[in-house]
Amino acid sequence: MAKDLPVVLMGLDPGTSKNAVVIAIIYKGSLEVVGVGESPSVGIHKGVIENPALAAKSVKQALEKAEKMAGIRVGRVSVSYCSANIEVLDYPGGLMLTGSFGSRPGKERPAVTGSDPGLAAVTPGHRILKRLPAPLAGTTPGLEQNCGRVLTAPSEDIANLIECARLAGLAVQEVVYSPLACSCALLTPAEKELGTILIDIGAGITSVSIFNRGSLRETTVLPLGGEHLAGDLAIGLSLSLTRAVEILKEYRTEEPPGGEDVSAGNGVCDTVQGKNTRDLVRSIIEARLTEIFTLAGQVIRGFDYPGILPGGVVIHGGVSQLSGISSIAEKLLQMPVRIGRLQNPKSDLSPAYANALGLVKYRFSRLPGDKKVLRNRREQNEGFVGKIFNWFEDRTRR
Ligand SMILES: Nc1ncnc2c1ncn2[C@@H]1O[C@H](COP(=O)(O)OP(=O)(O)OP(=O)(O)O)[C@@H](O)[C@H]1O
Ligand SMILES: [Mg+2]
Repeated sequence: MAKDLPVVLMGLDPGTSKNAVVIAIIYKGSLEVVGVGESPSVGIHKGVIENPALAAKSVKQALEKAEKMAGIRVGRVSVSYCSANIEVLDYPGGLMLTGSFGSRPGKERPAVTGSDPGLAAVTPGHRILKRLPAPLAGTTPGLEQNCGRVLTAPSEDIANLIECARLAGLAVQEVVYSPLACSCALLTPAEKELGTILIDIGAGITSVSIFNRGSLRETTVLPLGGEHLAGDLAIGLSLSLTRAVEILKEYRTEEPPGGEDVSAGNGVCDTVQGKNTRDLVRSIIEARLTEIFTLAGQVIRGFDYPGILPGGVVIHGGVSQLSGISSIAEKLLQMPVRIGRLQNPKSDLSPAYANALGLVKYRFSRLPGDKKVLRNRREQNEGFVGKIFNWFEDRTRR
């Protein structure tokens, strides 16, 4: 009898500050993470790959770590993309679209031409990354049930992403908008169905997205993130950026025992000696977080979303680790806020892998049932898949 063969999926999240890779195997219909790797990123600015060759070198480091842990080489990958360059377009006239379409490189659907007045709306040089569900009929005049809605990104950004992956030895299976990917790792199906806001505060960008009725409904990306927090601290305390990032990570809102200044004596700031450095750090951090959440609140109100959002707000991204962030967010957004945790109870993965894990979960969720398990005895013992199978059998026998 033919044995079930594992299918390998890989997700790559090339972020402004770090690359994250997750390798997972689908075995007997379920997903198991078998390798993860992280590396500091280079050549990426606010989510956009500006130098594919440089970025590829840093991606390779994360890739090699993940492959070493998994004990296999992987050639194909799903990659996440997010930047303030995205656009969400509503257009009347149903489903008529033009321009390259689709997240699968080389598999763009042909343009459909017609007299749809919405055709002119796609910014030249952009490609359609994802068709979104029509907006819910609500208070915005002109947005009717049969409107089309698309998420677009500059073709150059996507080409650079694909080139970066190629230089790292990977073929891109699909490019997925990051909030869509990480919603699969961080939100429960009930949260996505009932209505939840996901805010990802990374190093260079902050995305604000509404999920409802199981889909991404609204999204915007702000060009703000942890780099701004670190920059503020570096300027305000006359420090190097590296030290400012360390302070950000060490920062605690709670008073230390005895109320002593946590920063004293550790070289935080030579130029503000005698002042309460700790209060200064807190006021700098709170001022920038206030700006970020005030803008996020404006974005949410600007969506003019007609549905209710009982899931509240889920914050993630590196900056979500900041002590005291949820109380500031709750005060400014006037909604319940929680910090995102991976919906992956068997794994002790760091939340830094949310996007990369979400990519494999997103792909897994869309694979037809018969593709989730290969049943070809010949493949078991030959070539790449066969090696994986043997590796997996060895692992499960241990
Ligand atoms: N414990 C922490 N406390 C506060 N800030 C942190 C902490 N850990 C990381 N950060 C900050 O989070 C940011 C990195 O977050 P993340 O890894 O989500 O970004 P990224 O995905 O590389 O970037 P982007 O999504 O903007 O392209 C950095 O600015 C870093 O300084
Ligand atoms: Mg990110």
